[in-house]
Amino acid sequence: MKVLVTDPIANEGIEILRDAGIEVEEKLGLSPEELRQAIKGVHGLIIRSNTKVTADLVEAADELKVVGRAGTGLDNVDIPACNKHGIVVMNTPGGNTNSAAEHTIAMILAVSRHIPQATASMKEGKWEKKKFLGQEVAGKTLGIIGIGRIGSIVAQLAQGLKMKVVAFDPHIRPDLAERMGVELMDLDGVLARADYISVHTPLTPETKWLLNKDLFDKMKDGAIVVNCARGGIINEEDLYEALKSGKLKAAALDVFEKEPTTLENKLLSLENFICTPHLGASTKEAQENVAVAVARQIRDYLLNGEVRNA
Ligand code: NAD
Ligand code: MLT
Repeated sequence: MKVLVTDPIANEGIEILRDAGIEVEEKLGLSPEELRQAIKGVHGLIIRSNTKVTADLVEAADELKVVGRAGTGLDNVDIPACNKHGIVVMNTPGGNTNSAAEHTIAMILAVSRHIPQATASMKEGKWEKKKFLGQEVAGKTLGIIGIGRIGSIVAQLAQGLKMKVVAFDPHIRPDLAERMGVELMDLDGVLARADYISVHTPLTPETKWLLNKDLFDKMKDGAIVVNCARGGIINEEDLYEALKSGKLKAAALDVFEKEPTTLENKLLSLENFICTPHLGASTKEAQENVAVAVARQIRDYLLNGEVRNA
C-alpha cells in the first residue's frame, strides 16, 4: 500500500503509516499537473487545506481508495467526485478544535486592544500610548454564527471573559445551546445585538459570502467582525467598504478568499484590520492530533477496511 502526503503534516503521523508497513511519499507544493502524475498508483492521499482534490485529479487517480484531511474543513475536496469513484473521504474534526477556538479568542482580544498595531509602532521606535485606546470585552455581547465544535468552545472561553454570548445556527438543538448558557436567535437578532460577530460555519454554497454588505448594514455601528473559519464566508470587498466607512470598528481575519493572500488584498492597507495567515490550527498540539488521527484512520481503512472519523 502507498500513501501520498501533499501538505505538511507532523512526523508522528508519517511514522504510524511506516510502522504499519505502508510506503509514504511526501511531495509538497505540487502544481495541479504534477499532482495528477504523482497520484497514479497511490492508494491513500493525505492533505490539509492547500491541496485541491478536484474531479480532474480524481479522474487521474487510478488506485486511490481514500482521501484523509488532516484537519476539519473539506471545502477543498470534491466529495461527489470521490463518491462517484468509490473513494472514501475522511477528516479529523476534533483534533484542532481547541486551537482554532483559542486563536479566535486571541484575535478578539488583539483587535480590541490594538496589539498588532502597537507592536508595529514600538518596533518603529514610537511610544504611542494615547493612540491605542482599546475596549474591554467584559460585558460585551459576542454573536456566534455556527455554534458547532469550535463555536461552542469559543462561547465557553468568551463566557470566561465575562462576555454575553448569543448565536445563530439553524441546525443546533435549542436545549444544547441553553445548556451552554447561549441564547439562540435568528440571524437578524444576532446582528442587532452583537458587539462582536465571530463566524464558525463550514464554507458551503449556503455560507458563501454569508457575511456581505446587507449583513454588515444590519450590524450595530462599531461592531467588530472575526473570521477564523474559512475564507469566502465573508465578502472581502464588502468588508473593506464597511471598515473604510467606519460602519464596522474593526475586523480580524485568519482565513481569506484567496490563500496565500498578498499585499494586493486591500484589507491589508487598513489600520482597523488585523490578520494571521491561516494559523487557527497551527499549534504543536493540534498538528500532532490531526496527523496521528488521519494516519490511524487511513492505516485502518487500507489494511482492515475500517471507516471512521476521529
Ligand atoms: P462543526 O461542524 O462542528 O460546526 C459548524 C457549525 O456551523 C454547525 O453547528 C452547523 O450547524 C453550523 N452551520 C452550518 N451552516 C450554517 C449556516 N448557514 N448558518 C449558521 N450556522 C451554520 O465544525 P467545526 O469543527 O466547528 O469547524 C467549523 C469550520 O471551521 C470548519 O468547517 C473549518 O472550515 C474551520 N476551521 C478553521 C480552522 C483554521 O485553521 N482557521 C481550523 C479548524 C476549522
Ligand atoms: C481546518 O479546516 O482544519 C483548518 O483549515 C486547519 C488547517 O488545516 O490549517
